[in-house]
Amino acid sequence: MKMKEKFAEINKVQKALLATNFYNFETLKGVLLAAQQEQSDIILQLTQKSIDYMGLENALALAKAGLKTYGVTGWVHLDHGGSIELVEACLKAGFDSVMYDGSELPLAQNIENTKKVVQLAANYGANVEAELGYIAKLEQSHDKVAFTRPQDAQLFVEETGVDTLAVAIGTAHGFYKETPKLDFERLKAIKEVAQIPLVLHGGSGVPVPDVQRAISLGVCKVNVATEIKNIFMKTLKTLLTETDEIDLRQVFPPATASITKLIQGKLKMVNDVYQPTV
Ligand code: 13P
Repeated sequence: MKMKEKFAEINKVQKALLATNFYNFETLKGVLLAAQQEQSDIILQLTQKSIDYMGLENALALAKAGLKTYGVTGWVHLDHGGSIELVEACLKAGFDSVMYDGSELPLAQNIENTKKVVQLAANYGANVEAELGYIAKLEQSHDKVAFTRPQDAQLFVEETGVDTLAVAIGTAHGFYKETPKLDFERLKAIKEVAQIPLVLHGGSGVPVPDVQRAISLGVCKVNVATEIKNIFMKTLKTLLTETDEIDLRQVFPPATASITKLIQGKLKMVNDVYQPTV
């Protein structure tokens, strides 16, 4: 099933897919084993940095082969594509879905560029995600946030024909200093006018009930990256202080297993039905 079709399906029933970033074979394997064990669909995401690190063709081939090997239904997505050139390269290579991130541009420019990406992606039947409002990026102050305005979202969706929309409702990329406060009223208002599947970026560290409530209000894609890198490196660091083993095939598996455990929990979070507390 195409990514677009999957989103259309889950958009009707308030369900969401987990989107996990991967950085190498070990992190990819960790995520895929979790999806396999939970019998859950998953989105595998690559940023420009990860693409530069692994190489576009290598990264895509690794993800596609991994999905097949582990018997997981999934889609490969470009996360935060910063240029139309990068988006086009990913589409040509065979990505299922691309994000064009024009969130730092003036609204009219973001609309114009996103529109071009939507037209481009139509040739490949690929899904397009855009960002409206501004969600603080890694290494940026979490004060650097501009919440998405519902009236802008309506205009943006009408003008661009984008498939999915990342909204700024109180999350940020990276770890939070304090528990984030999500603006659910805003989310509801955006969904009412935009109608399309919404995307929650900055999923690391957002409390489970908040993620589930966001899903019940129209979020169909939940992104998690920072927690994956963190658990992998922390586990590895601990191991390396305890062993002189040079066989990396012995050293990496526990770090990979720590990702599997983390992502199993995240998959349960997105796949479970939201139970409001009274
Ligand atoms: P975190 O790194 O905060 O989990 O956010 C992931 C994300 O939104 C990727 O686009």
